[in-house]
Amino acid sequence: MSEPLLEVRDLSMTIGGRRRRRTILRDVSLRLDAGRTLGLVGESGSGKSMTARSILRLLPAGARTEGTVRFDGASLPDLSPAQLRRVRAHEIAMVFQDPRAHVNPVRTIGDFLTEALVLNDGVAAAEARDRARAGLADVGLSEPDRRLDQHPHELSGGMLQRVMIAAALLARPRLLLADEPTTALDVTTQSEVMAIVDELRRELGTAMLFITHDLELAAAVCDELAVMYAGEIVERAPAAQLVSSPRHPYTAALLAARPSVERRRARMATVGGRPIAAYEAGSGCSFAPRCPHAEERCRTAQALRPLGTAEVRCCRAEELETAAAERGEEAVR
Ligand SMILES: Nc1ncnc2c1ncn2[C@@H]1O[C@H](COP(=O)(O)OP(=O)(O)OP(=O)(O)O)[C@@H](O)[C@H]1O
Ligand SMILES: [Mg+2]
Repeated sequence: MSEPLLEVRDLSMTIGGRRRRRTILRDVSLRLDAGRTLGLVGESGSGKSMTARSILRLLPAGARTEGTVRFDGASLPDLSPAQLRRVRAHEIAMVFQDPRAHVNPVRTIGDFLTEALVLNDGVAAAEARDRARAGLADVGLSEPDRRLDQHPHELSGGMLQRVMIAAALLARPRLLLADEPTTALDVTTQSEVMAIVDELRRELGTAMLFITHDLELAAAVCDELAVMYAGEIVERAPAAQLVSSPRHPYTAALLAARPSVERRRARMATVGGRPIAAYEAGSGCSFAPRCPHAEERCRTAQALRPLGTAEVRCCRAEELETAAAERGEEAVR
């Protein structure tokens, strides 16, 4: 097997002071080949954003990580600050979940978009402005020329998200970390913008880690999906397979709870019971307290293990699959 573009292995993260150290991520492993797309899906608080931030070393104060993060063969945690800046400027771009927190409110959209091109790549100001204008048009923003002279507060949340996507792709990165890049958009526009992102990304050969709580949207955009729960990956599989035959009861529950497309706007996917944070999890399966199939042995630690072309963190996966097949259902649904 060739070396992946991004390889995350056994990534764990804790945060807080010595007395109140909390676990945020547990043994997260991901693999993404050049030009491919991986969706990271899970309920709020499951650790999706922290995973992306750990990759780029954009961590909150007091965070500590363990494990391996390799990009194109280089260990990112071992890079010097200058080397990391170079990676962030040229190789890995991130679209943050909250765009307003990541733009300077007193600078224009044009300055925001052109700054990196001028400073990092030595592009002349006029050409940088042309590229920025073209980038805004590419992501479907109306009146791109006027936008360049506007300030962030003059744009809606959805417009600002498009600006962030344009900014991320202007650097022609090899990897895009897109953290809920379309949440401020309505459902129809979300699909449109993701189709645009996918088209641009394919043209550039950029790989993408797409973070969302929307399993259906992720399945439409991504080659593979990884489902997170309480700071760990509970299932990973090719996207179509994960949606048609989920192997982990949590994935199955997410799918069963998914609202129809028409109702998607009004209601987010919910699963019975409250999701727990990673630091609340005991030593056994973290989903067991909410799982309709939980039994005694689910109280012991569960490893993410291969099952056909998937990987699943559930000791009952085969049994549940067989039982479902006997009832004429797909997998554990
Ligand atoms: N700065 C921080 N300090 C301490 N804990 C944090 C910090 N940011 C996030 N957390 C905690 O880390 C856990 C994972 O958070 P994360 O933001 O990665 O979740 P998420 O899956 O991205 O959720 P959402 O879908 O709401 O964006 C949560 O329990 C959250 O409360
Ligand atoms: Mg998040």
